[in-house]
Amino acid sequence: MVETVERVRLDPAELVPRVLGRYSPVTVDRGEGIYVWDLDRTRFTDFTSGIAVVNTGHCHPRVVRAIQDQAAKIIHAQANIFAHEPMMAAAAALTATLPERLNQVFWANSGAEAIEGAIKLAKIATGRPAIIAFRGGFHGRTHAAMSVTSSRAKVRGHYEPLLASIYYAPYPYLFRNPYQGPAENADLVYFAELEQVFDQLVMADDVAAMLMEPVLGEGGYIVPPARWVQNVRALCDKHGILLIMDEIQTGMGRTGKMWGFEHFGVTPDIIAVAKGIASGLPVSAVVSDRALMDRWAPGSHGGTYGGNAVGTAAAVATLEVMRDEALPANAARMGEVLSAGLRAIQADYPVIGDVRGLGLMVATEFVTPDGAPNPAAVATVIERCLEERVLLLTCGTYDQAIRIIPPLVVNEEQIDEFLAIFRRAVSSL
Ligand SMILES: Cc1ncc(COP(=O)(O)O)c(C=O)c1O
Repeated sequence: MVETVERVRLDPAELVPRVLGRYSPVTVDRGEGIYVWDLDRTRFTDFTSGIAVVNTGHCHPRVVRAIQDQAAKIIHAQANIFAHEPMMAAAAALTATLPERLNQVFWANSGAEAIEGAIKLAKIATGRPAIIAFRGGFHGRTHAAMSVTSSRAKVRGHYEPLLASIYYAPYPYLFRNPYQGPAENADLVYFAELEQVFDQLVMADDVAAMLMEPVLGEGGYIVPPARWVQNVRALCDKHGILLIMDEIQTGMGRTGKMWGFEHFGVTPDIIAVAKGIASGLPVSAVVSDRALMDRWAPGSHGGTYGGNAVGTAAAVATLEVMRDEALPANAARMGEVLSAGLRAIQADYPVIGDVRGLGLMVATEFVTPDGAPNPAAVATVIERCLEERVLLLTCGTYDQAIRIIPPLVVNEEQIDEFLAIFRRAVSSL
C-alpha cells in the first residue's frame, strides 16, 4: 500500500510524454466490475471500459484466477518454440464463436498489430497490392494501421509518406448525409461512390482487400445500413477481393451480438480482434480460413510475444465468462434500456442531435442550434459527469459525440443511475 502511494506522488506530466493524451485526471488504484477506485478510495463509475476493453468488468474473478494460475505455471512459452495449451484452447474457444470459415487464429499483441497482420495476410493470399478503406475508420497507430485510418487527420498528420496503394471510399454517416434524395436510398449513393473507385482510382484486380469496421468506432459510433454492408460483401466477391472486418471495438459482445458483422448478414474473410478478447491483457488476433492462412509461408509473419501463455489463458477465461454469463445478450438488453433512456433525454434537450449504436456501443451526438457538431457541449457534459464521478469518452472527427460503453456486466439499476447523472449534466448546458 505504502509503495503504491509513493508511486503516484510521481508526476505523470513529468514522466509520461504528452503525446499520450489523458482523458481524465484520475490515478487509479483498483477496479471491480463497472467501478474503479482512486488512491483516496474515491469510487468512479467507468463507462469507458478502458476504451471498450473490460467487457467482462474490471478484474472479473474468473479472469483474475486464470491469470494467476497460468503465471505460476509458465508466463512466456514462446510460440515459435513451444505449443501450449492456453494458446490452443483460446483459438478453439474463439473460433467456436465464429462461422466455419473463420477457423484459424494468428495471435498478436494489440489492435494495430492485428490490422498489420490482416493486411499482410490479404496481400500474400491474393498476390495483390492495394487496400480499400473507409472514411472515418480507425485501425490503429502503427505505420500501416495509420495509413488505413481516417478518423482524424492528426492520427496520420505529419507522418507522410504513408503506406502506398491505400484507397478510400465514404462510410455511410446518415445523420450527416450530404446527398440529396430519399433517405432510404442514401446507402446506394454511398455504394455507388465505392464502385466508382474502380473506375477512377484503382483496378479491381489490383485490390487485395476492403477493410471496414462493422460500426465506426473512434470515427463516431456510426452504424451503416445492412444493405450497404451486404453490397460491399457482394462487390468483394465479384472481384475476388477479401473482406476484412475490424472487430477490435465492435467484437466480444459489445454490440449485443458476439461479433458486429452478425448484425448485417455477412461473413468476412478475415477479422481482426483485440480489446475485449482478454479482459485487459494485451492480446489480439487475426482470424481467417485455413486455406488462406496456408498461403502465409512459415516465417513470413510472426512476433516474440504473440500467443503469450498468460494472455491467452485470460482470453479463455474471458470467452467462458462471455458464454456462461450470456454477456452479449445482457449487452443487447441493457443497450435497449440505455438507448431508450438517452432518447428520452434527447426529447427534452435538442442539443442532443442523435442517439445511435448497437447493444452497449452507444453514442449521443451533440449539435448547435443550426445542427453543426458541438464539441463544446460534449466537453461540458463529460466534465459534469466526471464531477459526479462517472468516466466517459468522446468519439467522432470533431469530438462531437459522447460514447457510452459500460462493461457488459452492467445492470439496469446502474444504467438508471447513469441516466439520471447524464440528464443532470445535459440540463446544465
Ligand atoms: C476499431 C479499432 N481498430 C484498431 C484499434 C487499435 O487498437 P490498439 O490501440 O490496440 O492498437 C482500435 C483502438 O481503439 C479500434 O477501435
